Amino acid sequence: MEKFVVYGPCQLKGEVTISGAKNAAVAILPATLLVKGKCHIENIPNISDIRAYYKILESLGAKIEYISDNEIIIDNSHVTSAIASYELTSKFRASYYLLGALLGRFQEVQISLPGGCNLGARPIDQHIKAFEKLGAKVEVKRGNVYASRTTRLKGTSIFLDVVSVGATMNAILAATLAEGTTTIENAAKEPHVVDLANFLNSMGAKIKGAGTDTIKITGVESLAQVSSYSIIPDQIEAGTFMVAAAATKGDVIIKNCIPKHLEPITAKLLEAGATVEEHESSIHVKMDKRPSAFSVKTMPYPGFPTDMQPQISILLTICNGTGIIVENIWESRFQYTDELAKMGADISAHGTTAIIKGVDTLYSAPVRSHDLRAGAAMIIAGLVADGETSVYDIHHILRGYENITGKFEKLGATILYQNNKDEVSFYG
Ligand code: EPU
Repeated sequence: MEKFVVYGPCQLKGEVTISGAKNAAVAILPATLLVKGKCHIENIPNISDIRAYYKILESLGAKIEYISDNEIIIDNSHVTSAIASYELTSKFRASYYLLGALLGRFQEVQISLPGGCNLGARPIDQHIKAFEKLGAKVEVKRGNVYASRTTRLKGTSIFLDVVSVGATMNAILAATLAEGTTTIENAAKEPHVVDLANFLNSMGAKIKGAGTDTIKITGVESLAQVSSYSIIPDQIEAGTFMVAAAATKGDVIIKNCIPKHLEPITAKLLEAGATVEEHESSIHVKMDKRPSAFSVKTMPYPGFPTDMQPQISILLTICNGTGIIVENIWESRFQYTDELAKMGADISAHGTTAIIKGVDTLYSAPVRSHDLRAGAAMIIAGLVADGETSVYDIHHILRGYENITGKFEKLGATILYQNNKDEVSFYG
């Protein structure tokens, strides 16, 4: 079985450079389908979700020139298929962006229902509502989503019932080449929404208001190729290293990040007692004491990101006092708390709330990565704990963190990758 063996306790020290944003890249890559031409994209994270996206796009007819691990030129001039294979699209969530992008270009589109981390129900009703308002016919049948249109999509007014990152970005993708003006109300404001709009605008799209809750898209007939676009740094990767620095009583400079995107995380670290210095494109986090207790409620941006919820919980496991976490986005994001309990954490989770009473120290234990962010939290817990922590199911972590062991090792950690094919799973 594949696992990371994390040696603790370890005080992280030094500098780490943040990669491009996963959740921006997974929308920008399909967005390239909207142009019959070439797009040169830089600062793409080298992670398994992105490599899966390359395969999907190539299966549709895209030609990709791999300039480096983080830079491509993609030519979609000869894409003729709008049917993405089940094997490729069912495995991850962000394949849903193919619907909006392909629907902008083709009259009939088919993808499988998206997969992704198991965080409870993950409906796509708001995506479908947006496509239907734009004039498409959408059917979900036998595990697939079929979308079609007989004429050009038509600009409309879309009010999202819930603030959804995916539905906002999919509506933008579909509306970009529609006839007339589309407004999206109650839109998500995450940095990746803004990055997608900036990318499309660099191709000639007319999108205004991204980053606010009302986005206005004036449809254009066609888009132009892109000579160079660099994806924004990953907010959640940066936040993960900020928390890891504080949890290990470390001293870390996080480079190539956008401090504004990290404000909700910075605020919690300050409450915990860390020192956080913001610079133009870096953040310096230092911690020299046991964290104080604090409470967290996850919210859409600019609130505290749900994708930082498991990681910040590690600070509370060793805090002075009792902290409370309320999860407001996903119905089932506390599965990892059982793993932390194995490491000596005093943690109880019911429904959307977890109560964490700080203990003096964590100890090592074999633990699972229930999902991508929970896996990152297990690595931080392993760095805090005394002993060798084996973290299993690391494929989840590799979906979204580029070179995570190399980056932690540069900060002084020891994390070994092991793949013992004969080892039997400890959790059955
Ligand atoms: N929702 C609906 N209907 C929809 C869409 C969403 O009810 O049609 C609900 C969801 O059930 C959830 C809430 O709306 O309760 C927010 O979901 P959202 O659509 O914003 O999530 P998403 O687009 O599926 C993205 C990220 C997630 C991140 C969430 C929230 C990508 C590929 N995924 O998911 O990232 O947790 O936004 O910020 O961008 C991760 O990176 O680890 C990850 C899970």
